[in-house]
Order: sequence, then C-alpha cells, then structure tokens
Amino acid sequence: MSARVITITSGKGGVGKTTATANLAVAFALLGKKVACIDADIGLRNLDVVLGLENRIVYDIVDIVEGRAKLRQAMIRDKRLKEDLYLIPAAQTRDKTAVSPSDMVRVCDELKPLVDYILIDSPAGIERGFRNALAPADEVVIITNPEVSSVRDADRIIGLIEAEQKGPGKLVINRVKPDMVKRGDMLSPEDVIDILAIKLVGLVPEDELILVSANQGSPAALTPDKSKAGKAFQNIARRLLGQDVPFMALDEDLTFVQRFLRALGFSSENVDSGNNTARNKKNNDKAGSTSKSEKEKIEESAGAES
Ligand SMILES: Nc1ncnc2c1ncn2[C@@H]1O[C@H](COP(=O)(O)OP(=O)(O)O)[C@@H](O)[C@H]1O
Ligand SMILES: [Mg+2]
Repeated sequence: MSARVITITSGKGGVGKTTATANLAVAFALLGKKVACIDADIGLRNLDVVLGLENRIVYDIVDIVEGRAKLRQAMIRDKRLKEDLYLIPAAQTRDKTAVSPSDMVRVCDELKPLVDYILIDSPAGIERGFRNALAPADEVVIITNPEVSSVRDADRIIGLIEAEQKGPGKLVINRVKPDMVKRGDMLSPEDVIDILAIKLVGLVPEDELILVSANQGSPAALTPDKSKAGKAFQNIARRLLGQDVPFMALDEDLTFVQRFLRALGFSSENVDSGNNTARNKKNNDKAGSTSKSEKEKIEESAGAES
C-alpha cells in the first residue's frame, strides 16, 4: 500500500477546506479506504473539532517532526468507522515555521505504507503553511465559494499550484445556493468553471446541517441520507477514486423539462450529468488557462484592492 496524497486548499479563508477534508475523509472510509488526514493549520487547528476527536489529542504533528512522538503515537483513530480513519492534529501553541515542507514530505512518506489516502487540510494564505500542505501533494483539490472574491483568490492559488508543478488541480464549489443562482444573485457553477478553467469534481450546496454537524463533531458525510451536502461530499470522494458519478441536482424545484424527463424514466441526476460533461469538455478544451478577458472581468467587478 502506498497512499495517494490529496491536499485540500483554497485562495480565500473560510470557504470550507476543513469541512471538505473532514467529510471527504469520512466518505473515503465509508467507501472502504483507509484514510489519514493531517491538519496543516498549525496554531489554528480545528479539523480535530469538526471530526469530533479533540478530546483524544495527546501528540501533534510538531511532536512528530521534533521527535517527541512516533508517527503511530500521534495518529488518532476514529472509532466510529469500521475502516480506519486517522487524524494527525496540528499543534495549537506553535506557529507554522515549526514545520517545513520537507518535514511534511517525510511525515507523508512514513504514513504512505499504512493507508490508502492522505488528506491534508491546508491553512489559508500563500505562506509557509500553504507550502507545507502542497509539498507532499500528488493531487490538489481547490475549494471555492461562488463569490467573486473567493473565485478571484482561487484563480491566484491555481497559478501558484501550477508554478509548483502540482497542477492543474480539481475544483469543488461549496455553499452553492440554487435559489440565488436562479435569481442571478450568485455566480452560477458554469460562471465559476468558465473563469477558473479546471476540472470540476463537486458542487456542494449550502446546508445548515454542515454547521450543526461541525459543532457536534459528526461530519455530514456520516449521514448522507439526511444531508445534501453530505451526499455531495460522498459523490466527490467517489469521483476522486476515479468513478464516474453523475452530478446531483441541487435544486428540488425541477424545471418542466427535468420533470418531463423524469416522467419518461430519466433521473434528474442523469440530466444534470449530461450538462456537466459538456461543461467539462469545454473546460478541458481551454487547456487549463484562464483567458485574460475573464480574469479582467472578475478583477473589475471585485474592485481594485489587493
Ligand atoms: N456547504 C456548507 N453549508 C453551510 N455551511 C458551510 C458549508 N461549508 C462550510 N460551511 C461553514 O463555513 C465555515 C467555514 O468553513 P471551514 O471548513 O472552517 O473553512 P476553512 O477551513 O476554509 O477556513 C464553517 O462555519 C462551516 O461550518
Ligand atoms: Mg480550516
């Protein structure tokens, strides 16, 4: 066994990296994969809280790096899942400089024979913490919200990821509100994909159960039947495993055409999937580069700051 390392990052903070890491870890474990997640947000750890494992922390990643603990001692096992899910927590009292990119590569190399997937929750920003999270990555998942500032920052981070030869990365659009998209008050998934021009692996709806489940330390992916967002994360995990999973309709309020197709025996998932394939093709045709005019558009609408 040699694990694949997936780093979950974003340009802007607060868009759902930690939420995505916790839910994808649970989803992989439910799919029968052994997973370890690493909280690379040193000083501001919270993946432990979202996973409900904060009371069991004894050692953290800085203890491993500085030789006070063996890797195994710092791996906290989630007892709720039959397949193994482990957390390596961040240190709370240290800063990001306590760990270097080569330390992260070393820790991941030691972890690789033990699990199938390593998920790294990246901190916000483009400083040391981001470089730590990126260094061991085989694959990068970029989280954005459908908001101009979030998309603009995602565009910048995609450039950095490509410059580090870790690109192009895969996109998750989180906190989509179908009603707002319909009214034209929120960027649509198509708008976001047009601007960022990387492959979409998931659309996650705004879902208050995410907040409730984060507070309870019980990720929504544990109960996908109760949460659309939990179900969306499960679908993303399957796509990351290479499965061809249709995109679910985020909107309960089906259009006439969708209802008509359903009546004929086509599910709205299939209807949606057709659209997405077309989008991805268009996306792939762009060969991963964002055109200048689109970039300008987004920069203009965001104002001149930064
Ligand atoms: N799909 C969603 N629906 C509702 N709330 C969400 C969703 N995704 C994330 N949140 C909330 O947004 C906040 C920031 O999420 P978090 O995962 O901590 O972001 P990051 O790690 O990128 O800083 C949290 O309060 C989280 O519960
Ligand atoms: Mg976070």
